[in-house]
Amino acid sequence: MNAIQIIDLKGFCGKDEDFIAQYVNLRNSYADLLLTSPVEIDETREWLKNADIEIRGIVEDNILCGVTILYLNRHGEVAFFVREPGRGFGTRLLEIIERVALEKGLTSVWAWVLHDNHIAQRAFEKNGYLREGTAEREFNNRLFKGFRFGKKLKPAGKGENT
Ligand SMILES: CC(C)(COP(=O)(O)OP(=O)(O)OC[C@H]1O[C@@H](n2cnc3c(N)ncnc32)[C@H](O)[C@@H]1OP(=O)(O)O)[C@@H](O)C(=O)NCCC(=O)NCCS
Repeated sequence: MNAIQIIDLKGFCGKDEDFIAQYVNLRNSYADLLLTSPVEIDETREWLKNADIEIRGIVEDNILCGVTILYLNRHGEVAFFVREPGRGFGTRLLEIIERVALEKGLTSVWAWVLHDNHIAQRAFEKNGYLREGTAEREFNNRLFKGFRFGKKLKPAGKGENT
């Protein structure tokens, strides 16, 4: 198995443009599922300086295999996306960003998922997220149906009974 590295994409802002370019391509490829407009490299470099977000990537052989984002200004909303679904990277990314959230003092995280995005729903559920109900999200003057998922975070070493 090839070695896997976890990177903080903020550290590559202004340095290794290749990872930023890979990030932009990957994120834009999922614009419909993430309900975002396509982004460009220059604006992304600026966005990465934002103190309200944390962002980590999984790299294998210099290929950015997946990315997860934590929005501190949205009460711990998380988003994640991978280059090649089905390799378990989604689960790895959630573990990574939950650790970051704990380090930032958050006690819970949440996510919004489109109603027909079954892979993401499965990934959240198998990682202990609870489906908290339906919620609509507006994007480009349209309303999209989805589900809100949430997870309470436990500091490392704290079991169910602590
Ligand atoms: C959501 C996403 C990050 C998951 O990544 P991943 O690496 O495939 O995640 P995992 O492998 O850890 O888990 C995926 C689960 O969905 C299951 N799955 C795959 N295809 C599925 C389908 N069509 N319907 C339901 N479940 C499905 C997988 O089998 C796996 O569950 P299992 O381990 O019980 O078998 C990835 O699909 C992705 O990048 N999607 C596009 C972006 C997106 O939708 N992001 C979420 C919005 S926040």
